[in-house]
Amino acid sequence: MKTIAEVLTLSTAFLSEKKLDRSRRSAEELLASVLGVKRMDLYLQHDRPLFETDLEKMRSLLKRRSTGEPLEQILGEIEFYHCQLAITPDVLIPRQETEILVDLIAKRIKERPSSGRTLWDLCTGSGCIGLSLKKAVSELSVSLSDICPKALALAKKNAEANNLEVDFRQGDLLEPFFGETADFIICNPPYISQKEYEELDPGVRDFEPRSALLGGERGTEFYERIARELPPFLRPGAQIFFEIGEGQGPAVQEIFSPLPWRRSRLLKDWAEKDRFFFLEIE
Ligand SMILES: C[S@@+](CC[C@H](N)C(=O)[O-])C[C@H]1O[C@@H](n2cnc3c(N)ncnc32)[C@H](O)[C@@H]1O
Repeated sequence: MKTIAEVLTLSTAFLSEKKLDRSRRSAEELLASVLGVKRMDLYLQHDRPLFETDLEKMRSLLKRRSTGEPLEQILGEIEFYHCQLAITPDVLIPRQETEILVDLIAKRIKERPSSGRTLWDLCTGSGCIGLSLKKAVSELSVSLSDICPKALALAKKNAEANNLEVDFRQGDLLEPFFGETADFIICNPPYISQKEYEELDPGVRDFEPRSALLGGERGTEFYERIARELPPFLRPGAQIFFEIGEGQGPAVQEIFSPLPWRRSRLLKDWAEKDRFFFLEIE
């Protein structure tokens, strides 16, 4: 019978041979999920022998990971800014940059308690942005929208699992909000260009939805549409927050420059890359 420590060593070696990154961490996460324990508990029980049924399950998960399937999809969940979110192949796996975005927005909203309370998360996917902001600032009235019914169904499930009361709209960008206005609008749209999409890491391109990644030929088409369609949806003093692709800062600034904003700002991620674009209306 093999022990936890032995299985971890063998599994890490197997994943490293397949040239998969974070092989030790992946082996730990997969084994913890098979045994239904926390990752750190594996070290407290390192000499525990494993049953053949657990070994079978571990082999099957390792096989999936060895094809490049993302760890988060195999585990089926992720922790994102104090929320536990289910993840399926119908949604983009929430990224760390997006947690930075949520943190920046939550701080801004808390700094100005007198501003309005209506917040829309367009292109919500798993619901990660809107749900974590609702959790961080409970007074907000949050609506989540996406064009993909399966993504929206998952966002609903995530709202319920985290006990968060929010509203859901299905449709194309701002269309489901026709005739309404908001104080805060957030959007992390698909922003990868056709050329970048073709060159994407297969672990992303083959497993995450194309419709969540590809932003058109240039990659900036969603920002162009939003700049055209946004004005009637804004309340006085409204703030808009976008995640953008690395290197898209100048292009996105240019796209929004004809509109009468009081302030526009590009902000950077931890790697010092332009990653977020914030706008404030007069
Ligand atoms: C980059 S993902 C962002 C998901 C999530 N907000 C996040 O930050 O992880 C983009 C999302 O936009 C949705 N989407 C694509 N085209 C859309 C459209 N025309 N209108 C609304 N949502 C759209 C996709 O279904 C996908 O869920």
